Amino acid sequence: MTQHLLSLWDFDKNELMAYIERAMILKYEAKDGSRHQTLTGKTIGMIFEKPSTRTRVSFESAMYGMGGQVIYLSGKDTQLSRNEPLKDMARVMSGYVDALVVRTFGQEIVDELAKYASIPVINALTDLYHPCQILSDIMTVLEHKKVPLADLHIAWVGDGNNMANTWIHAASRMGFELTLACPEGYEPEKTVLDEARLQAVKPITLTTDPREAVEEADIINCDVWASMGQEEEQVEREKIFQPYQVNSDLLSAAKDGALVLHCLPAHRGEEISDEVLEGEHCVAWDQAENKMHIHKAILEEHING
Ligand code: CP
Ligand code: NVA
Repeated sequence: MTQHLLSLWDFDKNELMAYIERAMILKYEAKDGSRHQTLTGKTIGMIFEKPSTRTRVSFESAMYGMGGQVIYLSGKDTQLSRNEPLKDMARVMSGYVDALVVRTFGQEIVDELAKYASIPVINALTDLYHPCQILSDIMTVLEHKKVPLADLHIAWVGDGNNMANTWIHAASRMGFELTLACPEGYEPEKTVLDEARLQAVKPITLTTDPREAVEEADIINCDVWASMGQEEEQVEREKIFQPYQVNSDLLSAAKDGALVLHCLPAHRGEEISDEVLEGEHCVAWDQAENKMHIHKAILEEHING
């Protein structure tokens, strides 16, 4: 069976850790001059219906760096924009490339592509999940904290969006404590939370109070208040989310040595203050770099098996 990467929920702890451990090896060996040409002769197709800097460039760089090739297709470049059925696109692309990396709106779009493709489909962000991002974020946490994930308490402050949903999956599957502070009406997906809690070994707590979320946290995560596709809600969200800004005041309520994560792009002065983003607690730049190493590990695993 073709192995897709659509959601972290489809993997167990060992499988998720294997991506991270392989990415660390690839990263450290590359810094020592090794070139990992494990994808020579392979090609990926990248269908991106939303903008991207990091995910696009890091997947492309990962693929080229391992000897492979990339065909990038923006939303308007394919016949999908003229309503060609996804199941037809999936079967046609399966004859041309070795994997499809897809950034789009509904999760049902990647699910449908995966159902009909005979090649792996990798979710590079949907409205519901951003699985590849959370793997690079956890890799970054482990590099900095150097303790088992089970010993860490992770906080999410802000919108209950695709990133928050994916952190919930990760907490349940990988066994760490997670507290999310989201305004009323902006909670994570209820079915995701309910299902994850049923299988979690550590608490997954939802509050509306950002101070409560960060008090015991080793890691504080934030993300934009209006995700891609929610641009029309930006002004309204700016008002509602104001108390959820990750700034020096909120950080003073956290443990000493707490790390701040942001998947980027950041809106300074909204979800994060310039001072915190540029400060010593913030590891956003390491997260961004680690995306490339994680993408190498993902591509190797899913293309070479
Ligand atoms: N973090 C992230 O996915 O960034 P891009 O939207 O630039 O790909
Ligand atoms: N929640 C954000 C993540 C961007 C990487 C969005 O979907 O726009």
